[in-house]
Amino acid sequence: MANKILVTGGAGYIGSHTAVELINSGYEITIVDDLSNSKESAIAGIEKITGQKVEFVKLDLRDYDALKELFANNKFDAIIHFAASKAVGESMQIPLHYYRNNIQCLLNLLELMDEYNVPNMAFSSSCTVYGQPDQLPVTEQTPFKPAESTYGNTKKINEDILRDAARSNEKYQLIALRYFNPVGAHETAEIGELPLGVPNNLIPFVTQTAAGIREQLSIFGDDYGTPDGTAVRDYIHVVDLAKAHVIAVDRLLGKKNKANYEFFNLGTGKGSSVLEVVNTFERVNDLKLNYKIVDRRAGDVEQTYADTTLANEELGWKAELGLDEMMKSAWAWQQKLN
Ligand code: NAD
Ligand code: UD1
Repeated sequence: MANKILVTGGAGYIGSHTAVELINSGYEITIVDDLSNSKESAIAGIEKITGQKVEFVKLDLRDYDALKELFANNKFDAIIHFAASKAVGESMQIPLHYYRNNIQCLLNLLELMDEYNVPNMAFSSSCTVYGQPDQLPVTEQTPFKPAESTYGNTKKINEDILRDAARSNEKYQLIALRYFNPVGAHETAEIGELPLGVPNNLIPFVTQTAAGIREQLSIFGDDYGTPDGTAVRDYIHVVDLAKAHVIAVDRLLGKKNKANYEFFNLGTGKGSSVLEVVNTFERVNDLKLNYKIVDRRAGDVEQTYADTTLANEELGWKAELGLDEMMKSAWAWQQKLN
């Protein structure tokens, strides 16, 4: 019988792409999501791509009793925990919501994993835990800097919780995956990122500007100490990221993990500047983007990109898709939304 994976936040951007890869790898999945930042149409998209019916439960993970019932009625082999609130700006406006949501969901899951004997979890962490690193590229041993945002702090706290849980109870088998900047969409354009309201992140702002939804893209700063003066990030195709989750689950179920708490950077290892992203978007999609250079955005780091050696060597995973594919698929998805 196929192993059954609980995918929390599976109606969301990264979760929906991972759901597709899990199904294509022969896993059975149950998605739980409260649709607070997603739409049920993502489930239909997953079903269309895979040709399989997906079990979807609409549930708020903060609701311990409802979650307990789900564990009582299912035998999960592993969990991939994506569900969280993720808007950096919003996290500064309503920090208590961020602490409650991002921490309570994880605590509820860990308690029920212990009670129902589900040891394995892969967790969505972020390169935000490193802040502006002193050394590049960023390895897993790079010290954490104080978080720039409440959102970032919740990810640090989540990692502390995972580490302490693993230390206290050998039953837990946990992997934190620290994503750099996930972008792009599935090649079918059946699923992709669905930002609610005005996007804060670069790529949705770029695609919405190209689509005429936004008048102009603001590039935040061209006076950084980078080759063209604009800030540098490690953009990673969401499908490459999704595949890493399948490998993490395979590793846990195959008992190939070397410690009961492990953590890996997931990026391409290559930094790209904002201007490079914009130029690539224009070139591969053969269009012109209306943009202007404005002041730096408060809280932005100058540059960050991953050292991916550990994920390459330990997980046997490497990002395969480049900026061209990221920008093409992001635009194809935006056009489908229009
Ligand atoms: P997303 O908002 O598209 O997906 C998260 C999903 O979780 C949403 O569908 C939302 O409805 C759901 N959710 C939130 N709170 C919930 C709750 N209490 N109960 C049930 N469902 C709930 O975000 P994403 O971009 O797919 O991110 C997935 C994970 O990866 C998050 O933990 C995020 O912090 C992390 N992450 C994302 C990025 C990024 O740039 N997208 C970068 C680093 C880390
Ligand atoms: C942001 C968050 C980070 C979070 C990540 C994924 C901040 C400070 N950091 O990362 O914690 O994990 O999103 O959700 O918010 N840019 C523009 N114009 C725009 C938008 C962005 O020039 O309209 C630039 C930014 O200055 C940055 C780059 O594009 O240099 C990428 O920005 P963004 O997509 O918001 O991601 P991060 O800032 O890297």
